[in-house]
Amino acid sequence: MEFSLINTQIQKFDGDTVVVFSNSEVTFNDVNIQQLIELNHFESKPGATLLLSLVQGFKASKVLVVGLGDLPNNAKNYIKALTAASGILSSTKTKSAMVAQVDIENFDESWTHKVSARVLKDADYEIQQVGAQEKTGTLENIAIQSTHNDAHELLQGSSIASGMKLARHLGDLPSNICTPTYLAQTAQDLAKEFDLECEILEESDMSALGMGSLLSVSKGSIEPPKLISLSYKGDANSKPIVLVGKGVTFDSGGISLKPGAGMDEMKYDMCGAASVIGTMRAIAEMKPKLNLTIVVPAVENMPAHNASKPGDVVTSMSGQTIEILNTDAEGRLILCDALTYVEKFNPEVVIDTATLTGAVIVALGKHHCGLMANDQDLANDLISAGKESLDTAWQLPLDDEYDELLKSNFADMGNIGGREAGSVTAACFLARYTKNYRWAHLDIAGTAWVSGAKKGATGRPVPLLTQYILDRAK
Ligand code: BES
Ligand code: MN
Ligand code: ZN
Repeated sequence: MEFSLINTQIQKFDGDTVVVFSNSEVTFNDVNIQQLIELNHFESKPGATLLLSLVQGFKASKVLVVGLGDLPNNAKNYIKALTAASGILSSTKTKSAMVAQVDIENFDESWTHKVSARVLKDADYEIQQVGAQEKTGTLENIAIQSTHNDAHELLQGSSIASGMKLARHLGDLPSNICTPTYLAQTAQDLAKEFDLECEILEESDMSALGMGSLLSVSKGSIEPPKLISLSYKGDANSKPIVLVGKGVTFDSGGISLKPGAGMDEMKYDMCGAASVIGTMRAIAEMKPKLNLTIVVPAVENMPAHNASKPGDVVTSMSGQTIEILNTDAEGRLILCDALTYVEKFNPEVVIDTATLTGAVIVALGKHHCGLMANDQDLANDLISAGKESLDTAWQLPLDDEYDELLKSNFADMGNIGGREAGSVTAACFLARYTKNYRWAHLDIAGTAWVSGAKKGATGRPVPLLTQYILDRAK
């Protein structure tokens, strides 16, 4: 799918379909379209569509009217409208489309270009059935109406969508295919395609580094663990931004076994990993002037005779000991060693993303992801990047009172803090390993995938992370 900007009237576009936006109780400039809107009693509800053929005065054979609701146009309605438009464009096998210029409240034209490219390309994602060939959509060219011709925002939107596509694909793959080894192979393939540095640590390497916490999670599984690092270098002399993504390719809970209902969704417990790999893809496509390293601890959490048991005590790479009170709180056990490991990159900042706690869904639902940080400037930057990319985060506290809940009689800490404030105590656990750098944690358990009839990965928080990184390149 290729994007371009064009500076012509909608009537003169000579491709297949022109997409135009209409507001409730506002008359359309083009009288022919206005007549047809009235004839069809089209009400311009956000995301409603009306497909018109052979409209008088138009070179294109079809005009797709999409509702934006009431003025002023807001960003959420614009995304609804674009997503609806994309559905019609693909079901009508459209090859070339023009998207009419539209003003969105609080955002400028460049933003609109970026979001249009991203949403239209992302809406084209289809779940790939196991064994089937990758399907390619029919839509080849999208021209976005504009009076200026700086197309770099289109590249940004399109690259973010490529990153989201990769993240969604990895998330949607079943855990018998998307294993730690598969994630490592994916990273190596990316390294080859974009000339990145890739390093994969094996179980013996991690053992030599003293990663007793990470290995306590993988030891009950037949799948070998991997610690994946992938680096993009776009600037010779600056410290890297480091992203860490939780890569539990299946979370059965281990000996603290999860209930059966909905357990299939624990294949999505590597969506943190998928999102940092996707973000790396987006950044590698755009090549901004900065350095980015992603680190993925990848394991499978299974019950077995040799799995960790509640009450076991392990020593992390940092030297701190942990009493594993619940083997289902495994995300923090792999992240803590990864967070110690990343010190070797001398990071500017470290941001981890993880499907860490069910409690974050109770706190925030599926709308915002949870954000916790040891540095308020970093938290603020992530909140802004979330608003800009419409992939939002909401901050939760990290006070000492919560940290005290991790006390153990048998080790430096337990791996759970009890029923209350589960997302915060999980982050307090991680905070004990991130004292040497600026750090933020995104709990994406509620936002990385959707359940129900439309079950599937969302690609979040690739937009937020990529926007945060692009903001640093300015
Ligand atoms: N991967 C889960 C968190 C999760 C649960 C994400 C449901 C999405 C939906 C994580 O490893 C986990 O099991 N967390 C436990 C922690 C508890 C044992 C302290 C949880 O949230 O129940
Ligand atoms: Mn778990
Ligand atoms: Zn988990």
